[in-house]
This record gives sequence, C-alpha cells and structure tokens, in this order.
Amino acid sequence: MLAKPSLVQHSDQWSTVEPFEECRRLLHKAAFSMQHPLASHPLFSIDALASVAEEAAKRPGDLYWDAGDLSITDKWGSVPKPDMTVRQVIDRIETAGAWMVMKHIEIDPRYKKVLDEFDDFIRRIAGPEGSKLLSNTEMLIFITSPRRKTPYHFDAEVNVLTQIHGSKDIWVCDPMDRSITTEDELERYYAVTTTAGTFKPEAERKARKITLQPGDAVHIPTHGAHWLQNHDNISISLSLNLEFPNWKYKDVYRANYYLRRMGLKPRSPGQSAIIDRSKAATIDCVRQVRKLVGR
Ligand SMILES: [Fe+2]
Repeated sequence: MLAKPSLVQHSDQWSTVEPFEECRRLLHKAAFSMQHPLASHPLFSIDALASVAEEAAKRPGDLYWDAGDLSITDKWGSVPKPDMTVRQVIDRIETAGAWMVMKHIEIDPRYKKVLDEFDDFIRRIAGPEGSKLLSNTEMLIFITSPRRKTPYHFDAEVNVLTQIHGSKDIWVCDPMDRSITTEDELERYYAVTTTAGTFKPEAERKARKITLQPGDAVHIPTHGAHWLQNHDNISISLSLNLEFPNWKYKDVYRANYYLRRMGLKPRSPGQSAIIDRSKAATIDCVRQVRKLVGR
C-alpha cells in the first residue's frame, strides 16, 4: 500500500508557498506552508524506515512508540504499551493505532544529506542574522496509524513538519497567545516536564487548521500549541527542527520558574535583554557547577 505512486505533482526542491520575505516575517511567529521534494524519496519508504526504526531502537531514547485511542487532551505515556517488537508495530501499523517517533536519524549520512538541504533552505528564510540563533538541526521521523490523533502540546524547537506519505490535519495556535500557552506552562515546560501544556477549549476556536498532503510542509513556531489528526491512511512525516540558544528561552524560563516559587513575579523573556542575560547566566552557572560536582 505504501509503495503506491502518488498522482500529485511534487516539487523537486524546497520552496515557500507565500513570498520568501513574508515567510521570513512569519518565522517563529505563525504557521506558514512550504513544499518539499521528499514525498517519493526512497529513504522514506516503509521498508527503509522499518530498518531505520530497528537501528534507532538499539540507541537508548531514540525510539518511542505507543498504541491506543488517544484524545487530543491526553498526555504522552498515558496509555499502556502493548507487548510488541518494533517490526511488529510497523507490520501492523494499519490497525495498531500506533504513533512511532525515531530520533537522530541524521546519524546515517544519507539522511544527513537530506537534512543539510533542508538546513540550507530554512537558513535562507531566517536570513544571516536569524540564522545565527539556530543550531542543532535534527530529523525525527513519525509513522502513525490511520485516524490516530497526536495530543495537544507545544515544543521548544523551531519545527517544520514535513508530510511524506498520507494526509493529516494539524491545528496550530499563536505562540504568543498567553491564554493558550500560559507563562506558568512555559516555566514548567523548561523546568519540570515537557508535557506542561494543557488543552483549553478556546484553543480549538483560535487555532489555524492546515491539511497536509504528501509534498506539503508547515512551520510550527516555538511555543505554538498544536495537535494533529491523521486521515484514514497511514502517515509518514518528518519533524525537521532547530534549536534556539539556551539564553533565549530555556534558561530564562527556568529562572522564572524558581523566582515564581519564591513568591516573585518575574518578567517574561524578551522584555529586558539585561535581565534575561542575567537570569540565563545564573542558570548556566548552576549547570556548570553541577557538571563539576557530577550532579
Ligand atoms: Fe510537536
């Protein structure tokens, strides 16, 4: 089934749908669409990915999967995992209700080459100054069963979700809307748990819904809450993502988490560069001391 050729005309290189300058303005602020050349690439066939998954399973933390009828309000790891091997999950992907993610795929030079082409494209969108803030480009691969939902969450990474096979809907919220992604959630995300984001009913009304077909990609801004619903097909998609430096959000929100626990009302990142840098330097200093003492 997965080997069926698509009738859709695919682009032969990465491109934006909106004018390039408009995408640079929207980067990190709102979702925008792109086209990519990977929809019929042999490296992303189900057979190729079954081998990739088995390799990822040998590396601690590089393969996660679950199976079950999750709703968008569920958290990761909230459903018991059936006793199946990685190969069995992929062989039964049509009916397993599974969601599988493989990390650090760029370890393989063939995938690294694909990632480098994306990296070049996203840096052209970001521009020379914006590009300086982006590092650690990585590739995650998702394989999901028909109709499977991906629960509501937000991420720290600058993400481009890239649809390879099958179609799905994604809902993306404004990353700056603090009634959706709250300050408290952001602080707990960076200091306590990456499942800190909690679905709010108004998110459904406020979110932008985008349908992804093979050949489509969408930018999901950092902290933009999102959730997904597969159509009645197996889906293969990539998360191609980059990281901001720790001083931009991570260490400032961590500092704010501890300051709020002390009864203070800390300023959000971006309001004062000097205060942000001081907070980040303090957290980094703690990190270095912990490294030295082996904690
Ligand atoms: Fe995500």
